Amino acid sequence: MIQAVGLHKAFEGVPVLRGVSFEVPRGHFMALVGRSGHGKSVLLRHLAGMLRPDRGRVCIDGQDLASLGAHELRRLRRRFGFVFQGGALFDSMTVYDNVAFPLRECMRLEEEDVSRRASEALARVGLAGAEGKLPAQISGGMVKRAALARALVLEPELIFFDEPTTGLDPITAHAILELIAQCHRNLRFTGIIVSHQIPRIFEIVEHVGLLHDGRLRFVGTPDDMLASDDEVVVAMLRGDDAQMEPRRTPGPRR
Ligand SMILES: Nc1ncnc2c1ncn2[C@@H]1O[C@H](COP(=O)(O)OP(=O)(O)O)[C@@H](O)[C@H]1O
Ligand SMILES: [Mg+2]
Repeated sequence: MIQAVGLHKAFEGVPVLRGVSFEVPRGHFMALVGRSGHGKSVLLRHLAGMLRPDRGRVCIDGQDLASLGAHELRRLRRRFGFVFQGGALFDSMTVYDNVAFPLRECMRLEEEDVSRRASEALARVGLAGAEGKLPAQISGGMVKRAALARALVLEPELIFFDEPTTGLDPITAHAILELIAQCHRNLRFTGIIVSHQIPRIFEIVEHVGLLHDGRLRFVGTPDDMLASDDEVVVAMLRGDDAQMEPRRTPGPRR
């Protein structure tokens, strides 16, 4: 369903993606792991058509995103959901209005249908009752739930999750991952999730990619990753401090 082919991207001459290729079949879930600053968010933004690659392409159902005009791209993106790092709710809008926002923006619905679908999405993530609260009035876990509801409300075929549990305590983080897994089982969207929840994330995905120095150092099943003897994979799995440090000087070393 979604395919990346030889993606390259540099910002002001500094390479971030240096030839990333993989695909995720329809209905499958893939985790993207890797140290901070190695381009995971940049990769997600390319997949979602928010950034254009310098070279290479992203195809959805075989169609190259670069071949689409602005209008077609906007239409295609309505089939996508995006859960941003930090939630990215509108601070001045209630939880309800945040979740209703994509419905009001993208579809011509009667307010009655907006209300039904927003309520459905909120119930799905366990937020029934919090509709009238502002983001500042709810806990971090509830913000992530609201962000998830907002991504689900258009019933997307493809959902990108960028570190949906960052900043949460471990118990809340697990609850959010379990909720995402449950939504995936019920709704069967194709999913790509950036996560540091290793090895917990492996229980809910079929594929894992390890982004390292702008390339997929590893791509395969969680079991294959756990069995890998590649030094970068091993360090990642161990949560090795030196290896986990953010990358400060970008660019290839070898
Ligand atoms: N819009 C941008 N302009 C310039 N540099 C960027 C931009 N977006 C990301 N970068 C750089 O790309 C690198 C990878 O960032 P990112 O994808 O956010 O990493 P992470 O793996 O932590 O998500 C970082 O060095 C970051 O500073
Ligand atoms: Mg990121």
